[in-house]
Amino acid sequence: MRIVLVGPPGAGKGTQAAFLAKNLSIPHISTGDLFRANIVQGTELGKKAKAYMDAGNLVPDEVTIGMAEDRLDQADAAEGFLLDGFPRNDHQARALDAYLTGKGIALDGVLDLEVPEDEVVKRIAGRRTCRNNSAHTFHVEYKKPQVDGVCDECGGELYQRTDDAEDKVRNRLEVYHRETEPIIDYYKQQGLVVTISALGPVHEVTQRAMEALRSDG
Ligand code: AP5
Ligand code: ZN
Repeated sequence: MRIVLVGPPGAGKGTQAAFLAKNLSIPHISTGDLFRANIVQGTELGKKAKAYMDAGNLVPDEVTIGMAEDRLDQADAAEGFLLDGFPRNDHQARALDAYLTGKGIALDGVLDLEVPEDEVVKRIAGRRTCRNNSAHTFHVEYKKPQVDGVCDECGGELYQRTDDAEDKVRNRLEVYHRETEPIIDYYKQQGLVVTISALGPVHEVTQRAMEALRSDG
């Protein structure tokens, strides 16, 4: 299956993607995680992305589209993928379509996670992220690590992402409404969108997502 996951910052895209990718045996490709890994490794790409990310703005398309396509070109994505955080604006959506058409393939669905803004703010404010791997996320209330400040998965130090500060979150939400929400309509015109509520316990949301994807495909 080839799926795009959309939803506001803090909707639980990364959390759900980890389970969905496992259930569907496809790689979870998060452009946010790819950027953060590049920043930790100190690559040129990471240096280009850092200031945009810290401010909660989109990294320029010239950088982002190439990185996403390079990742999609890897062998494990040949039969399917779950894209999380890409595409994020109209230009990226069209670039992805052109890339897939060039390969003779197409998306199977776009899963839209719906969460009220006050819940998103709560989820982000309490999120703690692993320094070793930003896909390892916890929450001070909803998903506590066994040892305070320590990642259950790898023992790494947990910290609060720079872009999770309140003023950055406000900007990320604005960017989401302005740049990313319109791509939902773009995909609706292609009959690809399934919208689910991302409220409730994590496993219930996963179940809802799996049912929605099954009925869509
Ligand atoms: P990115 O990393 O993609 O951030 P985001 O879209 O803002 O999403 P988040 O990672 O904040 O949240 P999430 O929806 O994954 O939620 P999570 O599962 O962690 O992008 C970061 C930046 O990178 C961008 O601002 C931009 O600068 C750049 N970037 C990335 N892609 C780009 C692109 N395509 N173009 C340009 N720039 C790009 O959950 C949040 C919290 O809630 C966690 O603590 C979790 O434990 C908790 N939680 C999850 N589900 C539940 C639940 N059901 N109940 C209770 N708590 C829950
Ligand atoms: Zn970790």
